[in-house]
Amino acid sequence: MSTSPRTPGNGQIQFGVFFQGVNHTTVWRDPASGSQTDFESFRRVAQTAERGLFTAFFLGEGLRLREHLGRIHELDVAGRPDAQTALAALAAVTTNIGLVATQNTTYNDPADLAHRLSSLDLLSGGRAAWNIVTTDNAWTGANFRRGGFLAHEDRYIRAEAFVQTAKAIWDSWADGAIAGSRGSRQWLAEDAITPVRRKDASFDVEITGRLPRSGQLHPVLFQAGDSPEGRDFAVRNADVIFSRHAGLEAAKKFREDIVARTLKAGRPADDVKIFPGQEFILAPTAKEAEEKHQWVRERQVGPQTAIAFLEQFWGRPLTEYDPDGPLPDVDPVVDVTDPTRGNAFHGKNARELAAEWRAEAEDKGLSIRQFVSGRAQLNGRGLVGSYDDVADLLAEYAHSGAVDGFNITPWIVPSGLDDIVNELVPRLQDRGVYRTEYEGTTLRQNLGLRAPLSHRNGSLAAVDQTQSEEVA
Ligand SMILES: Cc1cc2nc3c(=O)[nH]c(=O)nc-3n(C[C@H](O)[C@H](O)[C@H](O)COP(=O)(O)O)c2cc1C
Repeated sequence: MSTSPRTPGNGQIQFGVFFQGVNHTTVWRDPASGSQTDFESFRRVAQTAERGLFTAFFLGEGLRLREHLGRIHELDVAGRPDAQTALAALAAVTTNIGLVATQNTTYNDPADLAHRLSSLDLLSGGRAAWNIVTTDNAWTGANFRRGGFLAHEDRYIRAEAFVQTAKAIWDSWADGAIAGSRGSRQWLAEDAITPVRRKDASFDVEITGRLPRSGQLHPVLFQAGDSPEGRDFAVRNADVIFSRHAGLEAAKKFREDIVARTLKAGRPADDVKIFPGQEFILAPTAKEAEEKHQWVRERQVGPQTAIAFLEQFWGRPLTEYDPDGPLPDVDPVVDVTDPTRGNAFHGKNARELAAEWRAEAEDKGLSIRQFVSGRAQLNGRGLVGSYDDVADLLAEYAHSGAVDGFNITPWIVPSGLDDIVNELVPRLQDRGVYRTEYEGTTLRQNLGLRAPLSHRNGSLAAVDQTQSEEVA
């Protein structure tokens, strides 16, 4: 039952909550559905999560409204307040939960972003984290008058330089930089701040860090991006991966891959935690949960949404097809799905994928809408079941070491965590796989992380050395 070096969990499971904002899976037509933008919705979800001893409250980022076949995508939930502004407000009404802001490295700049993240870290008492993304769609670039801006591989080169620069900024104030006594002649100790110089293909900057360290030294680093480059980037830089691999077998495979990469990067096997996104649909009995599942899916995937979902892969309008009929008999317009047409599955062979899906739908006798309902979750079906069955399954996850936790994506806000906190969490505690109190006050402590990489074995000097070597 226990974990192994290749799947190094600690026999426990943690929860984060991903308040999605922009997405296609939030049921917004139901009377119980609240605002996606009012602070009250954020407050209620965050405080419920904290009541359930969740590790983190998580927000995504989109710097432009989503587009579909060249137009603003009007079917799904849109509109999302800036993550750091929302998290700063939440810091004031919570005490333990981590506050994770997704921020991209393609359109932001290190001096500004590092400062805002450490501001959140200080104001929240060491609870901030940065979910590092590179943002892969083609339309966001237009906001910044740079067209698509940066090929996929180049985004990770910039991301790496960006994160190294941010870390150098966070480490640029010496311990004891601020005068210890009121009788001191000056506020800052002499030469306590090391300017950060970076000159490479991505940046040519000289930055003065503007803030001291927080109680957790600097914000925790999450990463979300699944390509081989993205995974290698994660094991070099991140503390936690927000993954798509939630099914037990897929999660085990992903963990083994990440452990191999982590060891190769010279870090301990358990140094990078893994939290897949996951939807939970729960009820007192398995039968009720299955009925609820059908109800949720019908509301998530309306006829137009089903067609729009396929259009992402086919790359052409499919409005002439009946959502209650078979999958389109025409082929996608290009061979490889690319990010200009959709958001999640670029890089796959489109014709092959379409043929596979057609065969599967035909085999199971599924209409477009039924087929898409089963696919609409990026992670598969979601966890659907009775409170007890899902608690048993999560105990299996905990014992397998496949994941360190789940980043829960509620299908409704603000009430979407209520049954998880009231019914599931106590059952997990009874099974000994869920915390009964927060371990510490900082996010780093509650995730069970070691010190930041640059602070291990007194290695701050080594990091400074790396920085100066990179200066041309
Ligand atoms: C679970 C998950 C969540 C993500 N959330 C965001 C987000 O909120 N904003 C964003 O711009 N990109 C987000 N991304 C996209 C990544 O930034 C990245 O651009 C994309 O996955 C392409 O990189 P890859 O080829 O390494 O996967 C997310 C990716 C994953 C896997």
